[in-house]
Amino acid sequence: MVGDDDCLLMKAGEDKILQRKEIKTPDRTFLLLLTERDLGAQYPGMILYSLRILSGDTEIALFATNTYEYPPSSPIHARGVVQAKADEWERELLSNPPEFQAWHEIRGIGSSGETPTPEVLVLQGSPRPAGNCSVMAGWARDAAERAGKTAEVIYLDDLTIRACIGCYQCYNTGTCIFEDDMTGIIRALSAARVVIVCTPVYTNTVPGSLKIVFDRCQAYHAHQVRNGHSQGTKGLLFSVAGRKGRENFSCITRVVEAFMENIHIKPSGNVLIDDLDRRGYIRTIPGIEVQIREAVESALSL
Ligand SMILES: Cc1cc2nc3c(=O)[nH]c(=O)nc-3n(C[C@H](O)[C@H](O)[C@H](O)COP(=O)(O)O)c2cc1C
Repeated sequence: MVGDDDCLLMKAGEDKILQRKEIKTPDRTFLLLLTERDLGAQYPGMILYSLRILSGDTEIALFATNTYEYPPSSPIHARGVVQAKADEWERELLSNPPEFQAWHEIRGIGSSGETPTPEVLVLQGSPRPAGNCSVMAGWARDAAERAGKTAEVIYLDDLTIRACIGCYQCYNTGTCIFEDDMTGIIRALSAARVVIVCTPVYTNTVPGSLKIVFDRCQAYHAHQVRNGHSQGTKGLLFSVAGRKGRENFSCITRVVEAFMENIHIKPSGNVLIDDLDRRGYIRTIPGIEVQIREAVESALSL
């Protein structure tokens, strides 16, 4: 363990090195690096501890934990857990380096996946296949493609996505502990230039499947906190309500704006249609298709 005098600052003051130790094996020398990052600006009191084993520039193993994972009554705490892991890894590495490496290779740190990454991504939240939101999503995709962009509509009702369990482990690695269809959505969100939310009003807000996606974007938010983010993505909201009156959208606009702001998407326009319940009847409303197409073209030109 290095003393206070030896503590160095990495990455312009973001990571403080708590322990830096060479582990010499007969074959080669590994580096054990234990760092601390204060994430208190985002979440009061949150400290992230990361433990890495490096061979040259290659990361062999990564473990991370943070103070939000442990309630005050817990007999264990993040700093103690990461130190215990550092001691354990040092012992394992010294006793059998090939086995240590093989075990960490099998577990992996993340997968790239095969999900497409379109320039325009449409999240379609209605479970009705030929409903009003499906129609709007189709118009939006077509407008993007006519503008020469790649576009994809994701029908959330077709996917399997678990609800967020609030474990805060995404702050450790920038990824969620669950490997499900959300992995592909985050991959697509991170590459999209325009993100469009098409949603009906359900009980004054978005349908459950869309809310689950918004909550699970906390992992993408955590990734951005850890790694930085671009400011370039634009967001659009296209929504339909059965009841008459703009007030039916007051909750939905706030929820969707919160989702966009959380992952640094700039809200860039809404098309809100009230008094519409019948499946697909959006096609009968004069001028709506043009409004949707123009909103997409305008977001692409920003
Ligand atoms: C479960 C459920 C809850 C709904 N809640 C509301 C609501 O709170 N306010 C409202 O104006 N319309 C509500 N609606 C009506 C839908 O917003 C409306 O039918 C919309 O056109 C459906 O869009 P879609 O065709 O894309 O599925 C609700 C519909 C369902 C099925």
